[in-house]
Amino acid sequence: VKKVTTRTLQRMKKKKEPIAMITAYDFPTAKIADKAGADMILVGDSLGMVVLGYESTIPVTLEDMIHHTKAVTRGTKRAMVIADLPFMIAHLSKDEVLRASARLLQVAGAYGVKLEGGSEVCANVKALTTAGIPVVAHLGLTPQSVNQLGGYLIQGKDEKSAKHLIAEAKRLQEAGAIALVLECVPEELAQVITDSLYIPVIGIGAGRFCDGQVLVYHDILQFGGDFTPSFVKTYASVGKAMAEGVQAYIQDVKQHRFPEENHVTHLSQETVAAVYG
Ligand code: KIV
Ligand code: NA
Repeated sequence: VKKVTTRTLQRMKKKKEPIAMITAYDFPTAKIADKAGADMILVGDSLGMVVLGYESTIPVTLEDMIHHTKAVTRGTKRAMVIADLPFMIAHLSKDEVLRASARLLQVAGAYGVKLEGGSEVCANVKALTTAGIPVVAHLGLTPQSVNQLGGYLIQGKDEKSAKHLIAEAKRLQEAGAIALVLECVPEELAQVITDSLYIPVIGIGAGRFCDGQVLVYHDILQFGGDFTPSFVKTYASVGKAMAEGVQAYIQDVKQHRFPEENHVTHLSQETVAAVYG
């Protein structure tokens, strides 16, 4: 299979061919996403919330990201696998961000990394790019800053913050980012940013006019979460199907309905005789 590369993404942007991105966190979810034709698979630090049970993405560590990215890359043949840099790493020294990112590529097999932030991370975006590590930038609602922002709120709603986001997007592109994830901004702003960049803009809660879309795997399948953001479209109720299956199994065991004859192996008559004497 022909793998998705930075050049594939550039071509798709030019041809206005939508880029489909989805998160995945382990081998089976990656396999399903890859076979379904996802162009990009994001090992998002959302794994902290949807897989590890934390209340935000802040507790997720580099070791967590490596562990899950390894499983995802083992399940992926075609899609570009991007791994999130966890909380704080993008703000550390050039050496530290390079070393952490190198592990996500060398040890875990990611194609590139994603990091949150604007001007403040541009020097590190440039350092990574120069070292041959593709960087996906992330602006708008940046969940690692949830405590500073005061909640998961729509960003870029007034003229000043909208203009600021447009300028920041251009700076990240200038620093070498291969793509930009734009989260929870008004559709008109996302459209302006998409039209003013030559790198692809992948939206999440950013309206219809981005170059691509990304959503969280567990959100679109209603798998485990108690809350579904308004920008999410749900495509299956996997959590409900799993709960029903597990309940049926437990009840079968308790009611002596499992195992059945076809789940059982038998000794030969001679061995039975010998064993029982
Ligand atoms: O961690 C994540 O899943 C993300 C996407 C929501 C863009 O960063
Ligand atoms: Na993330």
